[in-house]
Amino acid sequence: MTKKAFIFDLDGVIVDTAKYHYLAWQKLAQQLGIEFTPEHNEELKGVSRVRSLEIILNLGGIQASQEDKNKWLIQKNEDYLSYLVNMDESEILPGVLPVLNYLKDKNQLIALGSASKNARPILEKTGIINLFDAIVDGNDVSNAKPDPEVFLQAARKLSASNENSFVFEDSVAGIQAANIANMTSIGIGDEKILNEAKYNFKDFTFIDVSFIDALINKN
Ligand code: BG6
Ligand code: MG
Repeated sequence: MTKKAFIFDLDGVIVDTAKYHYLAWQKLAQQLGIEFTPEHNEELKGVSRVRSLEIILNLGGIQASQEDKNKWLIQKNEDYLSYLVNMDESEILPGVLPVLNYLKDKNQLIALGSASKNARPILEKTGIINLFDAIVDGNDVSNAKPDPEVFLQAARKLSASNENSFVFEDSVAGIQAANIANMTSIGIGDEKILNEAKYNFKDFTFIDVSFIDALINKN
């Protein structure tokens, strides 16, 4: 049986860092006098840092110089990183490690497909970097989700076809990217928000072995 490629998004799928991104963006928005709600934040999930800032500035109708934008991008990232200082394996979301370990036991291929430029240090801090056969992150791609580039690169690194690739995602943009790539999209989170996903689970504790086995045995 051909090995399958299991591609994981990072923020909000493997680790609960989506909340830290939100807090850091909210702080910047507040400083700029822009109202920024959890609903607005959904649009930022899966989206690159630069694009996220553009969305926030658009919300506030703010035109800014490149110099200011660069300053705010650095500030946001420093703020975000301050939440990660004490990060360890306890920040891995419930149910994720059993699935990763099961896939390893079954000799399947595992990749990371994340928009984040902070992905590698997070995988190192949480002690799971060695479980990944390939890592594609924000440093590798030039087109942000919903462009499928990040997942296409991951599948290519694993020498897997798109049809044999399964993507776990918590963002609308990421689900769209997986669908555009002709991969199987698996939404992790609110199914009302992630309604374009082929499958939906509230979190990894709802994924049982029979679901993973069915993907592994898919023709
Ligand atoms: C995505 C997150 O995974 O990475 C976004 O969902 C984030 O919220 C993006 O903006 C870029 O991350 P970073 O760590 O490079 O700022
Ligand atoms: Mg995510």
